[in-house]
Amino acid sequence: MTRHFLDICDLSAEELRAIVDDAHARKKLRQGWPKGQADADAPARNRVLAMIFEKNSTRTRFSFDAAIRQLGGQAIISTALDMQLGRGEPIEDTAKVLSRMVDAIMIRANRHEDVDRLAKASSVPVINGLTNMSHPCQILADIQTIEEHRGAVEGKTLAWVGDGNNVCNSFIHAAARFGFTLNIACPDRYKPDMNAMVFASEARAKVLVTSDPREAVKGADVVMADTWVSMGDLDHDERLEAFQPYQVNEALMKEARSDALFLHCLPAHRGEEVTDGVIDGPQSVIWDEAENRIHAQKAVLAWCFAG
Ligand code: CP
Ligand code: NVA
Repeated sequence: MTRHFLDICDLSAEELRAIVDDAHARKKLRQGWPKGQADADAPARNRVLAMIFEKNSTRTRFSFDAAIRQLGGQAIISTALDMQLGRGEPIEDTAKVLSRMVDAIMIRANRHEDVDRLAKASSVPVINGLTNMSHPCQILADIQTIEEHRGAVEGKTLAWVGDGNNVCNSFIHAAARFGFTLNIACPDRYKPDMNAMVFASEARAKVLVTSDPREAVKGADVVMADTWVSMGDLDHDERLEAFQPYQVNEALMKEARSDALFLHCLPAHRGEEVTDGVIDGPQSVIWDEAENRIHAQKAVLAWCFAG
Protein backbone atom coordinates (compact mmCIF):
# COMPACT_ATOMS: atom_id res chain seq x y z
CA MET A 1 0.00 0.00 0.00
CA THR A 2 1.20 3.48 -0.86
CA ARG A 3 1.99 5.35 2.33
CA HIS A 4 0.46 8.83 2.20
CA PHE A 5 1.04 11.33 5.00
CA LEU A 6 -2.12 13.41 4.92
CA ASP A 7 -3.11 13.83 8.55
CA ILE A 8 -1.86 12.84 12.00
CA CYS A 9 -5.15 11.02 12.65
CA ASP A 10 -4.52 8.64 9.70
CA LEU A 11 -1.47 7.08 11.37
CA SER A 12 -1.35 4.87 14.45
CA ALA A 13 0.28 6.02 17.69
CA GLU A 14 3.06 3.47 17.05
CA GLU A 15 3.79 4.74 13.54
CA LEU A 16 3.89 8.33 14.72
CA ARG A 17 6.13 7.47 17.68
CA ALA A 18 8.54 5.71 15.29
CA ILE A 19 8.61 8.76 12.98
CA VAL A 20 9.40 11.18 15.82
CA ASP A 21 12.03 8.81 17.23
CA ASP A 22 13.62 8.61 13.78
CA ALA A 23 13.62 12.43 13.60
CA HIS A 24 15.42 12.60 16.97
CA ALA A 25 17.95 9.97 15.85
CA ARG A 26 18.64 11.54 12.45
CA LYS A 27 19.23 14.94 14.04
CA LYS A 28 21.70 13.51 16.58
CA LEU A 29 23.63 11.55 13.97
CA ARG A 30 24.49 14.59 11.85
CA GLN A 31 25.43 17.18 14.50
CA GLY A 32 28.04 19.53 12.99
CA TRP A 33 27.80 18.13 9.47
CA PRO A 34 27.48 20.50 6.48
CA LYS A 35 23.78 20.81 5.64
CA GLY A 36 24.23 19.43 2.13
CA GLN A 37 25.86 16.18 3.25
CA ALA A 38 23.62 13.13 2.93
CA ASP A 39 22.84 10.86 5.89
CA ALA A 40 24.83 7.63 5.89
CA ASP A 41 21.79 5.43 5.14
CA ALA A 42 20.44 7.81 2.44
CA PRO A 43 16.98 6.16 2.34
CA ALA A 44 15.84 8.41 -0.56
CA ARG A 45 18.84 7.64 -2.79
CA ASN A 46 17.73 7.88 -6.45
CA ARG A 47 14.29 9.19 -5.40
CA VAL A 48 12.71 12.43 -6.62
CA LEU A 49 10.19 14.47 -4.63
CA ALA A 50 7.81 16.85 -6.43
CA MET A 51 6.65 19.86 -4.44
CA ILE A 52 3.57 21.85 -5.44
CA PHE A 53 2.68 25.14 -3.77
CA GLU A 54 -0.70 26.83 -4.03
CA LYS A 55 0.27 29.16 -1.16
CA ASN A 56 3.44 30.90 -0.03
CA SER A 57 6.02 29.11 2.08
CA THR A 58 9.49 29.61 3.51
CA ARG A 59 9.96 26.82 6.06
CA THR A 60 8.04 24.05 4.32
CA ARG A 61 9.65 24.78 0.98
CA PHE A 62 13.26 25.01 2.13
CA SER A 63 13.04 22.29 4.77
CA PHE A 64 11.55 19.71 2.38
CA ASP A 65 14.15 20.55 -0.25
CA ALA A 66 16.96 20.27 2.31
CA ALA A 67 15.37 17.13 3.76
CA ILE A 68 15.17 15.18 0.51
CA ARG A 69 18.80 16.13 -0.27
CA GLN A 70 19.95 14.94 3.16
CA LEU A 71 18.15 11.65 2.48
CA GLY A 72 20.12 11.30 -0.75
CA GLY A 73 17.27 12.29 -3.12
CA GLN A 74 16.31 15.30 -5.22
CA ALA A 75 13.41 17.77 -5.45
CA ILE A 76 11.44 19.44 -8.24
CA ILE A 77 9.53 22.48 -6.98
CA SER A 78 6.70 24.42 -8.63
CA THR A 79 3.93 26.77 -7.72
CA ALA A 80 0.52 25.53 -8.83
CA LEU A 81 0.16 28.71 -10.88
CA ASP A 82 3.09 27.72 -13.08
CA MET A 83 1.51 24.32 -13.70
CA GLN A 84 -1.49 23.39 -15.85
CA LEU A 85 -3.15 22.69 -12.48
CA GLY A 86 -3.35 26.46 -12.12
CA ARG A 87 -5.26 26.61 -15.46
CA GLY A 88 -7.80 24.02 -14.40
CA GLU A 89 -6.21 20.66 -15.30
CA PRO A 90 -7.90 18.11 -13.01
CA ILE A 91 -5.89 17.27 -9.92
CA GLU A 92 -6.44 13.54 -10.63
CA ASP A 93 -4.71 13.91 -14.02
CA THR A 94 -1.88 15.81 -12.33
CA ALA A 95 -1.54 12.94 -9.84
CA LYS A 96 -1.38 10.31 -12.59
CA VAL A 97 1.22 12.22 -14.62
CA LEU A 98 3.45 13.01 -11.65
CA SER A 99 3.20 9.39 -10.44
CA ARG A 100 4.98 8.39 -13.68
CA MET A 101 7.73 11.00 -13.17
CA VAL A 102 8.55 11.25 -9.46
CA ASP A 103 8.65 9.03 -6.37
CA ALA A 104 6.62 11.23 -3.97
CA ILE A 105 4.56 14.42 -4.02
CA MET A 106 4.36 17.11 -1.35
CA ILE A 107 1.57 19.64 -1.78
CA ARG A 108 0.54 22.83 0.02
CA ALA A 109 -3.06 23.37 -1.03
CA ASN A 110 -5.86 25.82 -0.50
CA ARG A 111 -8.50 23.11 -0.13
CA HIS A 112 -7.95 19.99 1.92
CA GLU A 113 -10.26 17.95 -0.34
CA ASP A 114 -7.85 18.56 -3.24
CA VAL A 115 -5.06 16.83 -1.30
CA ASP A 116 -7.37 13.87 -0.65
CA ARG A 117 -8.22 13.72 -4.37
CA LEU A 118 -4.53 13.95 -5.31
CA ALA A 119 -3.69 11.09 -2.95
CA LYS A 120 -6.54 8.89 -4.19
CA ALA A 121 -5.34 9.22 -7.79
CA SER A 122 -1.61 8.96 -7.03
CA SER A 123 0.38 5.74 -7.01
CA VAL A 124 3.27 7.44 -5.15
CA PRO A 125 3.15 8.82 -1.58
CA VAL A 126 1.46 12.20 -1.13
CA ILE A 127 2.42 14.46 1.79
CA ASN A 128 0.24 17.28 3.13
CA GLY A 129 2.41 20.40 3.44
CA LEU A 130 -0.50 22.45 4.88
CA THR A 131 -4.10 22.94 3.85
CA ASN A 132 -6.93 25.10 5.18
CA MET A 133 -7.73 22.20 7.55
CA SER A 134 -4.42 20.84 8.84
CA HIS A 135 -0.63 21.06 8.99
CA PRO A 136 0.58 17.64 10.16
CA CYS A 137 4.30 18.09 9.31
CA GLN A 138 4.48 21.12 11.59
CA ILE A 139 3.14 19.20 14.57
CA LEU A 140 5.79 16.47 14.30
CA ALA A 141 8.53 19.14 14.39
CA ASP A 142 6.81 20.76 17.37
CA ILE A 143 6.66 17.49 19.28
CA GLN A 144 10.32 16.85 18.50
CA THR A 145 11.15 20.31 19.86
CA ILE A 146 9.17 19.82 23.06
CA GLU A 147 10.80 16.44 23.67
CA GLU A 148 14.31 17.83 23.10
CA HIS A 149 13.75 20.41 25.81
CA ARG A 150 11.42 18.65 28.25
CA GLY A 151 11.43 14.90 27.54
CA ALA A 152 8.46 12.75 26.49
CA VAL A 153 5.42 14.77 25.37
CA GLU A 154 3.07 12.10 26.75
CA GLY A 155 1.35 13.39 29.88
CA LYS A 156 2.36 17.02 29.30
CA THR A 157 -0.10 19.91 29.07
CA LEU A 158 0.04 22.05 25.92
CA ALA A 159 -1.92 25.29 25.61
CA TRP A 160 -2.99 26.72 22.26
CA VAL A 161 -4.01 30.39 22.35
CA GLY A 162 -5.78 32.13 19.45
CA ASP A 163 -7.32 30.79 16.26
CA GLY A 164 -8.73 27.24 16.11
CA ASN A 165 -7.01 26.92 12.73
CA ASN A 166 -5.25 24.29 10.60
CA VAL A 167 -2.27 23.97 12.97
CA CYS A 168 -4.62 23.72 15.96
CA ASN A 169 -6.63 20.95 14.23
CA SER A 170 -3.46 18.89 13.75
CA PHE A 171 -2.57 19.41 17.41
CA ILE A 172 -6.00 18.00 18.31
CA HIS A 173 -5.23 14.87 16.26
CA ALA A 174 -1.83 14.68 17.95
CA ALA A 175 -3.27 14.96 21.47
CA ALA A 176 -5.06 11.67 20.83
CA ARG A 177 -2.10 9.90 19.25
CA PHE A 178 0.70 11.15 21.55
CA GLY A 179 -1.27 11.24 24.82
CA PHE A 180 -0.86 14.84 25.91
CA THR A 181 -3.48 17.24 27.27
CA LEU A 182 -4.40 20.09 24.91
CA ASN A 183 -6.07 23.23 26.24
CA ILE A 184 -7.36 25.53 23.51
CA ALA A 185 -8.37 29.14 24.14
CA CYS A 186 -10.20 30.78 21.24
CA PRO A 187 -13.09 33.12 20.57
CA ASP A 188 -16.42 31.32 19.99
CA ARG A 189 -16.40 32.30 16.31
CA TYR A 190 -12.99 30.76 15.67
CA LYS A 191 -13.24 27.34 17.26
CA PRO A 192 -11.35 24.35 15.82
CA ASP A 193 -12.85 22.07 13.17
CA MET A 194 -15.82 20.01 14.39
CA ASN A 195 -14.51 16.80 12.78
CA ALA A 196 -11.22 17.14 14.66
CA MET A 197 -13.15 17.58 17.91
CA VAL A 198 -15.32 14.52 17.17
CA PHE A 199 -12.17 12.51 16.42
CA ALA A 200 -10.66 13.65 19.73
CA SER A 201 -13.75 12.78 21.68
CA GLU A 202 -14.05 9.30 20.09
CA ALA A 203 -10.35 8.69 20.81
CA ARG A 204 -10.92 9.88 24.40
CA ALA A 205 -8.22 12.53 23.96
CA LYS A 206 -7.84 15.19 26.63
CA VAL A 207 -8.82 18.30 24.68
CA LEU A 208 -10.42 21.28 26.41
CA VAL A 209 -11.81 24.29 24.53
CA THR A 210 -12.40 27.51 26.44
CA SER A 211 -12.73 31.19 25.59
CA ASP A 212 -10.45 32.11 28.50
CA PRO A 213 -6.70 32.23 27.67
CA ARG A 214 -5.75 32.24 31.37
CA GLU A 215 -7.69 29.04 31.99
CA ALA A 216 -5.98 27.38 29.01
CA VAL A 217 -2.41 28.25 29.99
CA LYS A 218 -2.78 27.64 33.74
CA GLY A 219 -0.01 25.22 34.70
CA ALA A 220 0.83 24.42 31.06
CA ASP A 221 4.21 22.98 30.06
CA VAL A 222 4.02 24.58 26.62
CA VAL A 223 2.23 27.69 25.31
CA MET A 224 1.65 28.01 21.56
CA ALA A 225 0.45 30.79 19.29
CA ASP A 226 -0.07 31.22 15.56
CA THR A 227 -1.07 34.07 13.29
CA TRP A 228 -4.58 35.48 13.77
CA VAL A 229 -5.04 35.66 10.00
CA SER A 230 -4.07 32.53 8.09
CA MET A 231 -3.39 32.36 4.37
CA GLY A 232 -6.76 32.45 2.63
CA ASP A 233 -8.64 34.14 5.51
CA LEU A 234 -10.57 37.11 4.18
CA ASP A 235 -12.05 38.60 7.40
CA HIS A 236 -8.82 40.36 8.43
CA ASP A 237 -10.33 43.26 10.41
CA GLU A 238 -12.89 41.12 12.26
CA ARG A 239 -10.15 38.72 13.24
CA LEU A 240 -7.78 41.39 14.57
CA GLU A 241 -10.62 42.66 16.75
CA ALA A 242 -11.82 39.25 17.97
CA PHE A 243 -8.33 38.04 18.87
CA GLN A 244 -7.17 41.07 20.90
CA PRO A 245 -7.71 39.28 24.25
CA TYR A 246 -5.71 36.28 22.95
CA GLN A 247 -2.23 37.81 22.72
CA VAL A 248 0.50 35.69 24.30
CA ASN A 249 2.38 38.26 26.38
CA GLU A 250 4.54 38.21 29.48
CA ALA A 251 1.51 38.41 31.83
CA LEU A 252 -0.14 35.39 30.18
CA MET A 253 3.12 33.38 30.20
CA LYS A 254 3.25 33.91 34.00
CA GLU A 255 0.05 31.83 34.33
CA ALA A 256 1.83 28.82 32.79
CA ARG A 257 4.51 26.78 34.55
CA SER A 258 7.55 28.90 35.33
CA ASP A 259 9.62 26.73 32.95
CA ALA A 260 6.96 26.65 30.20
CA LEU A 261 8.22 26.67 26.61
CA PHE A 262 6.85 29.02 23.96
CA LEU A 263 6.29 27.66 20.43
CA HIS A 264 5.17 29.37 17.21
CA CYS A 265 5.18 27.66 13.80
CA LEU A 266 6.05 31.02 12.14
CA PRO A 267 5.66 33.34 10.34
CA ALA A 268 4.91 35.49 13.42
CA HIS A 269 3.33 38.91 13.73
CA ARG A 270 5.07 40.50 16.68
CA GLY A 271 2.76 42.83 18.59
CA GLU A 272 -0.32 40.85 17.45
CA GLU A 273 -0.54 37.19 18.57
CA VAL A 274 2.72 37.42 20.55
CA THR A 275 4.86 40.14 22.08
CA ASP A 276 8.57 40.64 21.29
CA GLY A 277 9.35 39.85 24.92
CA VAL A 278 7.85 36.36 24.67
CA ILE A 279 8.87 35.29 21.16
CA ASP A 280 12.42 36.61 21.55
CA GLY A 281 12.60 35.77 25.27
CA PRO A 282 14.26 32.92 27.20
CA GLN A 283 11.24 30.56 27.10
CA SER A 284 10.94 30.68 23.32
CA VAL A 285 12.29 27.71 21.31
CA ILE A 286 11.07 28.88 17.91
CA TRP A 287 14.41 28.53 16.09
CA ASP A 288 14.83 24.92 17.21
CA GLU A 289 11.22 24.39 16.15
CA ALA A 290 11.92 25.82 12.68
CA GLU A 291 15.08 23.71 12.28
CA ASN A 292 13.21 20.59 13.33
CA ARG A 293 11.00 20.87 10.26
CA ILE A 294 13.94 19.37 8.35
CA HIS A 295 14.49 16.48 10.75
CA ALA A 296 10.80 15.65 11.18
CA GLN A 297 10.12 15.76 7.44
CA LYS A 298 13.10 13.53 6.75
CA ALA A 299 11.51 10.99 9.07
CA VAL A 300 8.16 11.38 7.27
CA LEU A 301 9.80 10.94 3.85
CA ALA A 302 11.75 7.89 5.07
CA TRP A 303 8.50 6.41 6.44
CA CYS A 304 6.74 7.00 3.10
CA PHE A 305 9.57 5.43 1.09
CA ALA A 306 9.78 2.42 3.44
CA GLY A 307 6.15 1.56 2.55
N1 CP B 1 5.46 27.00 9.53
C1 CP B 1 5.37 26.95 8.19
O1 CP B 1 4.79 26.03 7.61
O2 CP B 1 6.02 27.96 7.55
P1 CP B 1 5.96 28.28 5.99
O3 CP B 1 4.60 28.83 5.69
O4 CP B 1 7.05 29.31 5.79
O5 CP B 1 6.23 27.03 5.21
N1 NVA C 1 -2.09 29.05 10.18
C1 NVA C 1 -1.08 29.54 9.27
C2 NVA C 1 0.12 28.67 9.32
C3 NVA C 1 1.26 29.10 8.44
C4 NVA C 1 2.41 28.14 8.47
C5 NVA C 1 -1.64 29.65 7.86
O1 NVA C 1 -2.33 28.72 7.44
O2 NVA C 1 -1.39 30.65 7.19
